[in-house]
Formats: sequence, structure tokens, C-alpha cells
Amino acid sequence: MNTLTKLALGLMGQLKPQPSAGEPLTLSGLLPPSQSGGMPLMEALRQRQSQRDFLPELVGEQNLSSLLWAAAGVNRPDLGGRTAPSAMNAQEVQLYVALPQGLYRYEPQAHAMQMVVASDVRRVTGYQDFVDDAALDLIFVADHARMKLVPAAQREAYAFAAAGAMSQNVYLYCASVGLATVVRAWFDRHALTQAMGLGTDQQLLLAQTVGVVNVSKSAQ
Ligand SMILES: Cc1cc2nc3c(=O)[nH]c(=O)nc-3n(C[C@H](O)[C@H](O)[C@H](O)COP(=O)(O)O)c2cc1C
Repeated sequence: MNTLTKLALGLMGQLKPQPSAGEPLTLSGLLPPSQSGGMPLMEALRQRQSQRDFLPELVGEQNLSSLLWAAAGVNRPDLGGRTAPSAMNAQEVQLYVALPQGLYRYEPQAHAMQMVVASDVRRVTGYQDFVDDAALDLIFVADHARMKLVPAAQREAYAFAAAGAMSQNVYLYCASVGLATVVRAWFDRHALTQAMGLGTDQQLLLAQTVGVVNVSKSAQ
């Protein structure tokens, strides 16, 4: 769906998810993430970039697992530490994954995905057309209930900072395996909040599309 249509539907309160496609994934649906090897860090930094031309192809189960772990996974199980920092270790940013099969929440402790909406929410995650058909769209959501120890005036800023760190982890993972990605803030907050069924303590922060790069277009 093109941007103008999304803007018009959004104004009418009619920007909605599509029916889901494919077999739903279950909690046990994630492979163990790869936690070693890969491209050298400085090379991944050299290649990091935003790309907006995606093929409508899946990223593969191993990539899905590893990119979720890179974004928000537990890297120090004895401490419950994560791959990205958070103020006072509140770990307040929840990571959602919009797939053709449905909307899932990543559960870092179990390294699993929990289905939360049985619809294809991808097109509601942004006004740009590529978000509809790329393999997946990540959505970063602040859970304010986890930030009781953070001064109220700082909560939103701290949550955005934490989401930014998570997003950069995704950028670096994508650079290292040759996937395309772009972090995004241009979406209909009301429509997406509704489509995701978010509660009053939850605040949308950012979205990030991940998928297979359309080489023919990006080379133009
Ligand atoms: C907070 C934030 C919001 C952004 N929102 C969008 C967006 O809605 N759509 C988009 O296509 N790119 C978005 N971007 C990506 C920037 O346009 C991109 O990072 C910038 O042009 C620099 O390009 P590079 O990432 O390739 O270095 C956003 C980036 C940030 C940090």
C-alpha cells in the first residue's frame, strides 16, 4: 500500500492489519542464536547503512533467531544481562516482531517468541510502502511499569536511548550477514498502538524493517 493511501486511511482511523499468512509460529519456534564468529566488528561498522529496497523473502530461521538475540538477547545468563544497555538495568524496552504469520513478542529469558496478535501487522508499522512486504518489522516498545526507579521526567528519553542501542545491534548484525535494514519513527502511533493491543503502560518508540536486500534496486 502506498504512503498516500496509508496517510488517508490513518486520518479516517482505518489503517488496519491484514489477515495473517502461513502457519503460526509457536513459543519453541526459535533456533539457538549464533553467538560467535561472523564479520569482524570494524568491518560491520564500515558496512552499516540504512536500506529501503527489500525483496518479499524470508530472512531464514537462523537469522531471525540471531537478530532477535543481537537486539535484546541475554548475553550473561548468570546476571540476566542483555546485549544492549538500559538505564539502571531496567530492561524496559520490549521487542515485538511483525511477521506475515502474526505479531510476536520476543521473550529474552526463554529466547522465544510469544504470539500476541494473529494478524499481519507489518503495513501498520510505517507509512512507507516497503514495510508491508519486507520479511519482518521490529517494533520497540517501552514498558513504563519497569521504570519505577527512573525519575519520571527521564523515562521516555532513557527508553529511546535503550531502543537506539538495540537498533544499532540489529544494524550491525544485518551488516554482518548482508541483510537490509532501516530504523524508523514515521508511523501512525494511534493505528499501531491499536493494532498491537498495547496497554496504558506501553509506549511505542521505534520500528525497524529487516529483510533481504533488493540488489537490483539498491544498485541503481
Ligand atoms: C530516530 C530515527 C528515526 C528514523 N526514521 C526513519 C523513517 O521513519 N523512515 C526511514 O526511511 N528512515 C528513518 N530513519 C533512518 C535515517 O533516515 C537514516 O539513518 C539516515 O538517513 C542516515 O542514513 P544511514 O543510516 O544509511 O547512515 C530514522 C533514523 C533514526 C535514528
